[in-house]
Amino acid sequence: MFFKSIRFKIILLYMLILSATLFIFSIFLYDSLKQDLSANLDNLLKSKAGGIEESIDTYLETRKPEGGGKADPEYFIKIAQHLVDVEEVYDPRLVKIIVQIFNIKGENIAHTKNIPYIITFPKELFDEVLKGRSRFDEFYIDLPENKKLRLRIFIKPVFEDKEMIYIVQVAAPLTAINSTLNGLKLILFVLLPLTVIITGLAGAFLARSALRPVDNMINSARQITTENLKLRIHTPKSNDEIQRLAETFNELLGRLDKAFTGQKQFTQDVTHELRTPLTILRGQIEVALKRPRSGAEYGKILRSCLEEINILNKIVENLLMLASFEDKDLKLEIKPVELNVLAAKVIKDMRVLAKKKGLSLQFTGKEGVMIRADENYIRRLFLNLIDNAVKYTQAGGKVAVSLKKTAGFAVIRISDTGAGIPKKDLPYIYNRFFRLEKSRSSEGFGLGLSIVRSIVEAHKGKIRVRSKTGKGTEFTIQLPR
Ligand SMILES: Nc1ncnc2c1ncn2[C@@H]1O[C@H](COP(=O)(O)OP(=O)(O)OP(=O)(O)O)[C@@H](O)[C@H]1O
Ligand SMILES: [Mg+2]
Repeated sequence: MFFKSIRFKIILLYMLILSATLFIFSIFLYDSLKQDLSANLDNLLKSKAGGIEESIDTYLETRKPEGGGKADPEYFIKIAQHLVDVEEVYDPRLVKIIVQIFNIKGENIAHTKNIPYIITFPKELFDEVLKGRSRFDEFYIDLPENKKLRLRIFIKPVFEDKEMIYIVQVAAPLTAINSTLNGLKLILFVLLPLTVIITGLAGAFLARSALRPVDNMINSARQITTENLKLRIHTPKSNDEIQRLAETFNELLGRLDKAFTGQKQFTQDVTHELRTPLTILRGQIEVALKRPRSGAEYGKILRSCLEEINILNKIVENLLMLASFEDKDLKLEIKPVELNVLAAKVIKDMRVLAKKKGLSLQFTGKEGVMIRADENYIRRLFLNLIDNAVKYTQAGGKVAVSLKKTAGFAVIRISDTGAGIPKKDLPYIYNRFFRLEKSRSSEGFGLGLSIVRSIVEAHKGKIRVRSKTGKGTEFTIQLPR
């Protein structure tokens, strides 16, 4: 479980990167310290050799025979020995310095007292030096108890008038440098893994507290099923991605809940609406079957059965149409439609109905209001809205249909002087099966306006309603031209 968590992955990656960085840093640190220390030691050896050369030089100057020539060799050996004797064995930097002076035959003529034995020149090294080059080298000398001492050596041939007269050899043990470096190595060896482990632990702790809200979210999300879509997951007030994730998730739940409740409600409504005509049908058929009847009686019963079947048919047709609008791939048969011609036709058909109810039906429409639309659906739109206006307006009232053009839109307005819709009900009139209490006695299923809205939306238009109880209702539809 832990190994599959983001926490583990982050920490692992983090520790790997940290280890690599620290490792490179350590190598760099170690290397540069080593170079620094070696350079320091080399400088020290060089200046020591230079100092000895200078001192010998000054002594010899004072004792040069009159009229030129070389100082006598006996005297040279004496001052060389004297010099290395008085020479400080310990440098201020506490490095033990070993000094030896050789003649050009490679014989040791003087040396400091701090060496166990005279360090002789290997042959090939001496040949190098005879060529006149000073050089650095490293050496082991054997100490008692099988110990070895590693020395850094500087060898410098000294010339007078282009002739080599002696060789100074200055050496210092590398122990100080080595132990400093070993100390550093040890510190790094211990420190590096320790740092990685400590930061890893700290990282685990931090990641754990940072991701705890996610664990909480997972736990509360687990409890949500289709049965309790009202549950919400806990939203941490952390103002970060996790809060936004929780909020987004809750919004999604809200939408799902709405869709689910809608579906449930819809099924209930459909069942309810279908049940009434089906119950009536069943009752009529049961009555018909109770005893033998005359042809006229059967005819009457069958006719009334047919009426119920027609109602059922209408409901199913309307539902099918609504369902087709829910299909994302709904194909509208888009053609140029001349709205006033279409409206005039529908109104001609509806006029009969209006007349029967004692209503006046007026139409004012400009010519040439063309839109690109599916003609059948637009006819349906007019039918449903005019049907409502006629249905919900009392005798003596007025229904008016008008058509206008505005920039980019065709505007259809259908108004009546009917009963109106109370303000509190306005938000629901487009819902499926919604009917005002007082409209229940009239024919209808409450599907007309939901179909109208679907048609308007499918044509990327807008629908608005204004209504005053007792005064009338006005629907305004804008369809893009
Ligand atoms: N012009 C109007 N005046 C007053 N009330 C209206 C008007 N149009 C719609 N309504 C109210 O809104 C409800 C929903 O209308 P809708 O057209 O969707 O259903 P319906 O007319 O009852 O049935 P259907 O159209 O399916 O035959 C109606 O029942 C009615 O109460
Ligand atoms: Mg209607």
